[in-house]
Amino acid sequence: MEVKFYNQLLANNKKWVQKQLDENPDFFNELAKGQQPPLLWIGCADSRVPANEIIGAKPGEVFVHRNIANMVVHSDMNMLSVLDYAVNALKVRHVIVCGHYGCGGVKAAMGNQSIGLIDNWVRHIKDVYRFHKTELDAIEDENEKFNAFVEFNVKEQVLDLAKTSIVQAAWKNNQPLYLHGWVYGIDSGIVKDLNVNITSNEDLEEVYQLSF
Ligand code: CO
Repeated sequence: MEVKFYNQLLANNKKWVQKQLDENPDFFNELAKGQQPPLLWIGCADSRVPANEIIGAKPGEVFVHRNIANMVVHSDMNMLSVLDYAVNALKVRHVIVCGHYGCGGVKAAMGNQSIGLIDNWVRHIKDVYRFHKTELDAIEDENEKFNAFVEFNVKEQVLDLAKTSIVQAAWKNNQPLYLHGWVYGIDSGIVKDLNVNITSNEDLEEVYQLSF
Protein backbone atom coordinates (compact mmCIF):
# COMPACT_ATOMS: atom_id res chain seq x y z
CA MET A 1 0.00 0.00 0.00
CA GLU A 2 2.68 2.44 1.04
CA VAL A 3 4.93 1.60 -1.90
CA LYS A 4 1.98 1.95 -4.21
CA PHE A 5 1.20 5.41 -2.83
CA TYR A 6 4.81 6.46 -3.21
CA ASN A 7 5.15 5.17 -6.75
CA GLN A 8 1.93 6.91 -7.63
CA LEU A 9 3.54 10.25 -6.75
CA LEU A 10 6.24 9.78 -9.37
CA ALA A 11 3.68 8.65 -11.91
CA ASN A 12 1.57 11.72 -11.12
CA ASN A 13 4.60 13.91 -11.70
CA LYS A 14 5.18 12.47 -15.17
CA LYS A 15 1.54 13.03 -16.04
CA TRP A 16 1.67 16.59 -14.73
CA VAL A 17 4.79 17.40 -16.77
CA GLN A 18 3.12 16.07 -19.90
CA LYS A 19 -0.02 18.07 -19.25
CA GLN A 20 1.96 21.30 -18.86
CA LEU A 21 3.94 20.62 -22.04
CA ASP A 22 0.77 19.83 -23.98
CA GLU A 23 -0.63 23.22 -22.97
CA ASN A 24 2.61 25.13 -23.49
CA PRO A 25 5.74 23.47 -24.87
CA ASP A 26 7.83 26.31 -23.38
CA PHE A 27 6.29 26.07 -19.90
CA PHE A 28 9.42 24.81 -18.16
CA ASN A 29 11.86 26.74 -20.38
CA GLU A 30 10.13 29.95 -19.35
CA LEU A 31 10.17 29.06 -15.65
CA ALA A 32 13.84 28.12 -15.86
CA LYS A 33 14.70 31.71 -16.80
CA GLY A 34 13.84 32.95 -13.31
CA GLN A 35 11.05 34.04 -11.04
CA GLN A 36 9.39 37.34 -10.32
CA PRO A 37 6.40 36.48 -8.13
CA PRO A 38 4.37 39.51 -6.99
CA LEU A 39 3.34 37.80 -3.78
CA LEU A 40 4.76 36.21 -0.66
CA TRP A 41 2.44 33.77 1.08
CA ILE A 42 2.94 32.91 4.74
CA GLY A 43 0.56 30.09 5.52
CA CYS A 44 -0.07 27.13 7.76
CA ALA A 45 1.64 23.82 7.04
CA ASP A 46 -1.81 22.18 7.17
CA SER A 47 -2.22 19.84 4.18
CA ARG A 48 -5.69 21.25 3.49
CA VAL A 49 -4.48 24.77 2.76
CA PRO A 50 -2.35 24.53 -0.39
CA ALA A 51 -1.21 28.08 -1.21
CA ASN A 52 -1.15 27.99 -5.01
CA GLU A 53 -4.29 25.97 -5.45
CA ILE A 54 -6.71 28.04 -3.40
CA ILE A 55 -5.76 31.29 -5.15
CA GLY A 56 -5.44 29.76 -8.60
CA ALA A 57 -1.77 30.69 -8.83
CA LYS A 58 0.56 29.07 -11.32
CA PRO A 59 4.19 28.12 -10.72
CA GLY A 60 6.18 31.34 -10.62
CA GLU A 61 3.37 33.44 -9.18
CA VAL A 62 3.70 32.98 -5.44
CA PHE A 63 6.69 32.69 -3.12
CA VAL A 64 5.67 30.46 -0.25
CA HIS A 65 6.61 30.02 3.39
CA ARG A 66 4.60 27.69 5.57
CA ASN A 67 4.87 26.62 9.17
CA ILE A 68 2.56 25.47 11.92
CA ALA A 69 -0.14 28.10 12.43
CA ASN A 70 1.31 30.61 9.91
CA MET A 71 3.50 32.29 12.47
CA VAL A 72 5.78 35.29 11.98
CA VAL A 73 8.29 34.74 14.77
CA HIS A 74 10.83 37.53 14.66
CA SER A 75 13.78 35.33 15.63
CA ASP A 76 12.92 32.61 13.11
CA MET A 77 15.81 32.70 10.64
CA ASN A 78 13.85 30.62 8.16
CA MET A 79 10.95 33.07 8.02
CA LEU A 80 13.27 36.11 8.08
CA SER A 81 15.36 34.73 5.21
CA VAL A 82 12.27 34.06 3.12
CA LEU A 83 10.92 37.53 3.92
CA ASP A 84 14.22 39.25 3.18
CA TYR A 85 14.63 37.48 -0.13
CA ALA A 86 11.02 38.10 -1.11
CA VAL A 87 11.08 41.80 -0.24
CA ASN A 88 14.63 42.78 -1.14
CA ALA A 89 15.54 40.48 -4.01
CA LEU A 90 12.21 39.54 -5.60
CA LYS A 91 10.53 42.85 -4.68
CA VAL A 92 7.16 41.28 -3.99
CA ARG A 93 4.41 43.87 -3.59
CA HIS A 94 2.09 41.85 -1.40
CA VAL A 95 2.56 39.65 1.64
CA ILE A 96 -0.39 37.56 2.69
CA VAL A 97 -0.52 35.85 6.07
CA CYS A 98 -3.15 33.18 5.55
CA GLY A 99 -4.52 31.37 8.59
CA HIS A 100 -7.42 28.99 8.55
CA TYR A 101 -10.35 28.07 10.72
CA GLY A 102 -9.91 24.75 12.47
CA CYS A 103 -6.15 25.28 12.81
CA GLY A 104 -4.63 22.55 14.99
CA GLY A 105 -1.86 24.85 16.21
CA VAL A 106 -4.32 27.47 17.38
CA LYS A 107 -6.51 24.78 18.97
CA ALA A 108 -3.49 23.44 20.85
CA ALA A 109 -2.75 26.96 22.09
CA MET A 110 -6.26 27.19 23.58
CA GLY A 111 -5.67 24.10 25.69
CA ASN A 112 -3.18 22.96 28.28
CA GLN A 113 -2.23 19.51 27.05
CA SER A 114 1.49 19.12 26.33
CA ILE A 115 2.13 17.72 22.89
CA GLY A 116 5.93 17.70 23.01
CA LEU A 117 8.54 19.99 21.52
CA ILE A 118 5.88 21.83 19.56
CA ASP A 119 4.63 23.28 22.88
CA ASN A 120 7.45 25.79 22.52
CA TRP A 121 6.26 26.90 19.08
CA VAL A 122 2.63 26.98 20.16
CA ARG A 123 3.66 29.24 23.02
CA HIS A 124 3.89 32.13 20.56
CA ILE A 125 0.19 31.58 19.84
CA LYS A 126 -0.55 31.50 23.56
CA ASP A 127 0.96 34.99 23.73
CA VAL A 128 -1.71 36.08 21.24
CA TYR A 129 -4.34 34.66 23.60
CA ARG A 130 -2.85 36.69 26.42
CA PHE A 131 -2.99 39.91 24.36
CA HIS A 132 -6.69 39.33 23.59
CA LYS A 133 -7.72 37.52 26.76
CA THR A 134 -10.54 39.91 27.61
CA GLU A 135 -12.23 39.59 24.21
CA LEU A 136 -11.65 35.85 23.93
CA ASP A 137 -12.77 34.98 27.46
CA ALA A 138 -15.98 36.90 26.82
CA ILE A 139 -16.97 34.48 24.03
CA GLU A 140 -18.88 31.57 25.56
CA ASP A 141 -19.32 29.38 22.51
CA GLU A 142 -16.11 27.33 22.18
CA ASN A 143 -16.24 27.24 18.41
CA GLU A 144 -16.80 30.99 18.09
CA LYS A 145 -13.94 31.55 20.49
CA PHE A 146 -11.71 29.26 18.40
CA ASN A 147 -12.62 31.16 15.21
CA ALA A 148 -11.97 34.51 16.87
CA PHE A 149 -8.62 33.26 18.16
CA VAL A 150 -7.65 32.17 14.64
CA GLU A 151 -8.47 35.68 13.40
CA PHE A 152 -6.61 37.42 16.23
CA ASN A 153 -3.61 35.22 15.52
CA VAL A 154 -3.53 36.21 11.84
CA LYS A 155 -3.82 39.92 12.72
CA GLU A 156 -1.01 39.59 15.23
CA GLN A 157 1.24 37.90 12.67
CA VAL A 158 0.60 40.75 10.22
CA LEU A 159 1.62 43.17 12.98
CA ASP A 160 4.70 41.06 13.62
CA LEU A 161 5.55 41.31 9.92
CA ALA A 162 5.23 45.08 10.07
CA LYS A 163 7.53 45.15 13.10
CA THR A 164 10.38 43.43 11.25
CA SER A 165 13.34 45.58 10.20
CA ILE A 166 12.82 44.19 6.69
CA VAL A 167 9.29 45.56 6.22
CA GLN A 168 10.03 48.83 8.02
CA ALA A 169 13.10 49.44 5.84
CA ALA A 170 11.10 48.76 2.67
CA TRP A 171 8.43 51.25 3.74
CA LYS A 172 11.11 53.78 4.66
CA ASN A 173 12.45 53.46 1.11
CA ASN A 174 8.95 53.95 -0.33
CA GLN A 175 8.96 50.45 -1.77
CA PRO A 176 5.35 49.42 -2.47
CA LEU A 177 4.64 46.64 -0.01
CA TYR A 178 1.15 45.71 1.16
CA LEU A 179 0.44 43.38 4.07
CA HIS A 180 -2.74 41.32 4.24
CA GLY A 181 -4.35 39.00 6.77
CA TRP A 182 -6.59 36.24 5.46
CA VAL A 183 -8.45 33.34 7.00
CA TYR A 184 -9.32 30.34 4.87
CA GLY A 185 -12.40 28.26 5.56
CA ILE A 186 -11.45 24.61 5.25
CA ASP A 187 -15.12 23.63 5.11
CA SER A 188 -16.03 26.22 2.45
CA GLY A 189 -12.88 26.99 0.50
CA ILE A 190 -13.66 30.67 0.96
CA VAL A 191 -11.06 33.21 2.01
CA LYS A 192 -12.04 35.97 4.42
CA ASP A 193 -9.93 39.11 4.10
CA LEU A 194 -9.53 40.54 7.60
CA ASN A 195 -8.74 43.96 6.07
CA VAL A 196 -5.77 44.47 8.34
CA ASN A 197 -4.76 47.99 7.50
CA ILE A 198 -1.12 48.53 8.36
CA THR A 199 0.63 50.64 5.78
CA SER A 200 3.44 52.35 7.65
CA ASN A 201 5.44 51.86 10.80
CA GLU A 202 3.46 54.71 12.33
CA ASP A 203 0.63 52.19 12.65
CA LEU A 204 2.79 50.35 15.20
CA GLU A 205 3.14 51.17 18.85
CA GLU A 206 5.94 53.67 19.21
CA VAL A 207 8.37 51.30 20.87
CA TYR A 208 8.45 49.13 17.73
CA GLN A 209 9.04 51.97 15.28
CA LEU A 210 12.53 51.88 13.80
CA SER A 211 14.40 54.97 12.52
CA PHE A 212 16.87 54.48 9.73
CO1 CO B 1 -3.18 25.31 10.78
